[in-house]
Amino acid sequence: MPEFKHISVLLHEAVEALAIRPGGIYVDGTMGGGGHSSEIVRRLLTGRLIGIDKDDYAHMRARERLKDHLDKVTFVRDDFSNLIAVLDRLQIPEIDGLLLDLGVSSFQLDDAARGFSYAKEAPLDMRMDRSSSLTAEELVNTRSAEELADILFRFGEERHARRLAAAIVRRREQAPIRTTTELAELIASAMPGASRREAQHPARRTFQALRIAVNGELDILENALRDAVSRLSVGGRLAVITFHSLEDRIVKETFADLARGCTCPPDFPVCVCGNRPTVALTPKKPISPSEEEIAANPRSRSARLRVCERLPS
Ligand SMILES: C[S@@+](CC[C@H](N)C(=O)[O-])C[C@H]1O[C@@H](n2cnc3c(N)ncnc32)[C@H](O)[C@@H]1O
Repeated sequence: MPEFKHISVLLHEAVEALAIRPGGIYVDGTMGGGGHSSEIVRRLLTGRLIGIDKDDYAHMRARERLKDHLDKVTFVRDDFSNLIAVLDRLQIPEIDGLLLDLGVSSFQLDDAARGFSYAKEAPLDMRMDRSSSLTAEELVNTRSAEELADILFRFGEERHARRLAAAIVRRREQAPIRTTTELAELIASAMPGASRREAQHPARRTFQALRIAVNGELDILENALRDAVSRLSVGGRLAVITFHSLEDRIVKETFADLARGCTCPPDFPVCVCGNRPTVALTPKKPISPSEEEIAANPRSRSARLRVCERLPS
């Protein structure tokens, strides 16, 4: 297996945001290669870290990275959307913090065989969990033009979604589309001239959209955030790093909803709903990487960290 490196994004900021108590129980829901996990576990004395990832290769990497702290770590190969079931299985009623660093790691992106990158020839796979059945190849070759256009528009914000979906369907009528480069070239040639000359590769948004659809990334997010908050102890923190506006919007709106107290119309003289906020936003605005971090790791450019803290009920 090739040794690609993943540079953890907003490492210091995210771990500080968790305000770690040395005896607390923390969950890293997207453990990846264990970059954030290793900083969390270093701060624990009697506490425990539950490291979740659905990618088997991420577990290999994280075990190696965390090898000096294995007595404090429980590894779980699962989807973080199953948090409640995972905690129940481990008989953990409450946690003191949870981190989500969403998306894919560099070692997934850079490993051509995984099919995440338009720049590297590979089968169109894109599964984070390689035991799941749906691949990008299946999506591209079996979904209707309408469904494909919907995926490209919703998950890639691709304004030429219909045109590209039609081009995909025309091409696969001749032969199935099997590889990343085949798809990337097809997208590039189907783009109108101006979009072909953008600084970023014309297939970038299509690849993002397919990856999100294959892994169900956005569908699970809101419920997963609500589940996480429901298991936080009072004062416990939820920290989420996102990499594109679609994810960030879900985190922002879900946090705002949980932080909203009274939902009575503004002209009511007194509160009749009795609703109280579940969390406080800490801080109110998202945290972005510093210029130094962006210079050292350009992949961090679009990252946003949002944090909330559980309030007493
Ligand atoms: C950006 S990387 C995390 C990197 C990690 N924080 C580090 O510093 O090494 C995201 C990881 O989350 C995993 N992942 C993404 N969505 C997931 C989900 N719904 N459930 C479990 N793991 C997921 C991916 O497999 C990937 O390894």
